[in-house]
Amino acid sequence: MIAVENVRKTFRSGSHDVEALRGLSCKIDRGRLAFIVGPSGSGKSTLLYLLGALDLPSSGSILVDGHDLTKLSETDTNTYRRDHVGFIFQSFNLIGNLTCVENVLIPFLPRGVTAAQKARAVELLTDVGLKHRLDHRPRQLSGGEQQRVAIARALVKDPKLLLADEPTGELDSKTGDEIYKILRHLQAQRQTTLVIVTHDRRFITSNDQVIEIQDGQLVGEDLYQTRADLR
Ligand SMILES: Nc1ncnc2c1ncn2[C@@H]1O[C@H](COP(=O)(O)OP(=O)(O)O)[C@@H](O)[C@H]1O
Ligand SMILES: [Mg+2]
Repeated sequence: MIAVENVRKTFRSGSHDVEALRGLSCKIDRGRLAFIVGPSGSGKSTLLYLLGALDLPSSGSILVDGHDLTKLSETDTNTYRRDHVGFIFQSFNLIGNLTCVENVLIPFLPRGVTAAQKARAVELLTDVGLKHRLDHRPRQLSGGEQQRVAIARALVKDPKLLLADEPTGELDSKTGDEIYKILRHLQAQRQTTLVIVTHDRRFITSNDQVIEIQDGQLVGEDLYQTRADLR
């Protein structure tokens, strides 16, 4: 479903360049849970943002269902980002003066919310165990609960691709376990492709794909797998 081919990403930082990704290639199957792992600064978030078309590579291509994200028009890029991808961030990014339901409905706010969409938001919040918190505001919730709202928000448009950047980075380990349980459950239920950036390997199981990067390049077993696939 996703093929990253020889991607480079260089950031200009003041007077010098930072090469965040240096000719990286990898594949992620549809409906799979894939982890992007590696040390801090290795390019994990950069890769994730490229998959979500939040940024463009300096060179190389990113094929999602056969479409190269680097060649989409601005309109198509916006549509992809808005309708086909859900994002979950480390810091939840909820809006403080909106209730849980309203936060989940944020993706629909620009065009007005229908009753069906509101019902869907309530259903999702119920799925993540927050039925009793629908009209609460983020400050009334624990970190784990806030992240569950963010997960519901990421899923409200039924995206084909769900991207999470260190989703448990600000949570204690028990709450982290709960969040992974929810993510796995929702992913299996919907067959969403889920890509998670983490430096915590304890959540990885043998069924998951692991994309290990170091200094902007693929390392480890998956490197050999991908090379064989691309041949
Ligand atoms: N917008 C940016 N401008 C300049 N440098 C950046 C930017 N984003 C990331 N970098 C640099 O690119 C490298 C990879 O960053 P990142 O993808 O965030 O790593 P990770 O998520 O693995 O910690 C780092 O050296 C980081 O400082
Ligand atoms: Mg990062």
